[in-house]
Amino acid sequence: MIHEHPLAYLLGVEGAALLRAFTGGHDRAFVDARLAEVRRLLDDPDLADAAVDVDRVDPVAGYRSWAATYDTAPNTAFADTPVVDAVLDTLPAGTALDAACGTGRHTAGLVARGHRTIGVDASPDMLDRARRRVPEADLRRGDLHRLPVADAAADLVVCALALTHVPDLAPVFAEFARVLRPGGHLVLSDVHPERVARGSAPAVRDGAGRPARLPAHLHRTGDYLRAALPLGLRPLRCEEPVPPPAAPAAPAAGPGPWDAWPWSLAALVPEAARAADHGVPAMLVWQFRLAGA
Ligand SMILES: C[S@@+](CC[C@H](N)C(=O)[O-])C[C@H]1O[C@@H](n2cnc3c(N)ncnc32)[C@H](O)[C@@H]1O
Repeated sequence: MIHEHPLAYLLGVEGAALLRAFTGGHDRAFVDARLAEVRRLLDDPDLADAAVDVDRVDPVAGYRSWAATYDTAPNTAFADTPVVDAVLDTLPAGTALDAACGTGRHTAGLVARGHRTIGVDASPDMLDRARRRVPEADLRRGDLHRLPVADAAADLVVCALALTHVPDLAPVFAEFARVLRPGGHLVLSDVHPERVARGSAPAVRDGAGRPARLPAHLHRTGDYLRAALPLGLRPLRCEEPVPPPAAPAAPAAGPGPWDAWPWSLAALVPEAARAADHGVPAMLVWQFRLAGA
């Protein structure tokens, strides 16, 4: 169970902003404003008793409730698209695997680029959507730890926004290396570990409608390299796109519904949130090539 207290989040944002001031990024007026805001937050009766206790759900259960809105609700994580597309545009058509393909967001792009495309996902609900969206793809139910794909069958493996759901990268990277032919490419994207550390974990509802979070494991940049290098996967590209700063805004009136946390909480302290997020990458995108061609 996760005890999500809005004050814990808000004081964390203020703390991150104050660290930026402590290291010279902001002036005395900013520090005084933050300290006054912290006092105000601590005295706000609307925040004092607003904690929500939240369960973790496994991805199959979590995506059962999210599948219906996955492609329509605003999703800042789709910011990986331009970088992933730029990498995919450099690669020749062949056999591509979209591992943890979800509703087929990148599967569709692989088919459009002329790849014979296999998609694998653990969630039947996400796969149903992918089947409707990309009927040309060969879509299979399966797990990242035991991909239902033959050895050396793929010229390209794409895995987008899914590795945060696995606790350990090593066994999943071993599967990617197994299904890639020598010289094949691996393209990965995920929410940046600095964002995961700041509470970026998808909010869903469990079967009974209770608040729940999908697993959000924090994999540091070096964790990817430590998983990849022993398998002969050599990094060709690593991108950490930083979103443009949010426009200045007036503080929101209240904490908003739990489903919008932590973004609606950040909106209570927009100046602190802007400072805390300044320059923090949104995504981590990798391209690796398997040695041996
Ligand atoms: C955020 S969605 C990403 C879907 C798609 N790749 C995209 O970028 O839109 C994460 C997907 O990973 C799948 N997933 C999570 N853990 C998995 C696992 N161990 N094996 C297979 N699929 C998994 C989920 O079912 C979900 O469809």
